[in-house]
Amino acid sequence: MKLYLDTGMVEEIQTVAQSRILDGVTTNPSLIAKTGRDFIETLREIHSILKEYSPKDFTLSAEVIDTSSVDSIIKEGRAYAKISKHILVKVPLTKVGLEAVTLLSREGIRCNVTLCFSANQALLAAKSGAWCVSPFLGRVDDEGYDGVELIREIKKMYDHYGFETKILAASVRSPHHVHECAQLGCDIATIPKSVFDKLYYNPLTDMGLEKFQSDWNSYTKDLGGKK
Ligand code: E4P
Repeated sequence: MKLYLDTGMVEEIQTVAQSRILDGVTTNPSLIAKTGRDFIETLREIHSILKEYSPKDFTLSAEVIDTSSVDSIIKEGRAYAKISKHILVKVPLTKVGLEAVTLLSREGIRCNVTLCFSANQALLAAKSGAWCVSPFLGRVDDEGYDGVELIREIKKMYDHYGFETKILAASVRSPHHVHECAQLGCDIATIPKSVFDKLYYNPLTDMGLEKFQSDWNSYTKDLGGKK
């Protein structure tokens, strides 16, 4: 499963990308607004960090702002795509959005269809030629439903029909979400840094390391005493 970072914060991306296991970054208007910075300038900076540290097929998702018409989405999508072949144009899952996705995809511009909350919506995204679809599992959980179950349904349907659209699990809130998505064979998960950091952690690793260290320290102390 590919691992993306879900943030607009360049410092966070720099830190995680240095691990060299980061496959991409997703942004959205809320995440970019939090940075208080210029959108395109931020995108370019993120792009150069990923280019330095990530695998050659990294992607960077940039969301269209004016979603009022097919033309406005296509115009913004084309402008983002010009920045780099690594850009995925993020388009909301609306009727107008999917019409634009069909046309952009025919031009060879890869789209990430965002704000997906049902298997039926994911079906339409695949039929529109989206490169990937982003089901928001955390927000589904927030509404009292089962976000992981949504991923399971989409995965089953895509496998059944052989759709090439990838499943990008978004709105990830916990290591448990990441675990479940990986077990289901989800293609990509986009993860906030706070959750990404937790993936490294297991108390048994810390306890095991502490014991190795203390055993080694006693052993070398004993050796020193014998001399
Ligand atoms: C990423 O593509 C999505 O925009 C993001 O994961 C949404 O996360 P949220 O539900 O925590 O805002």
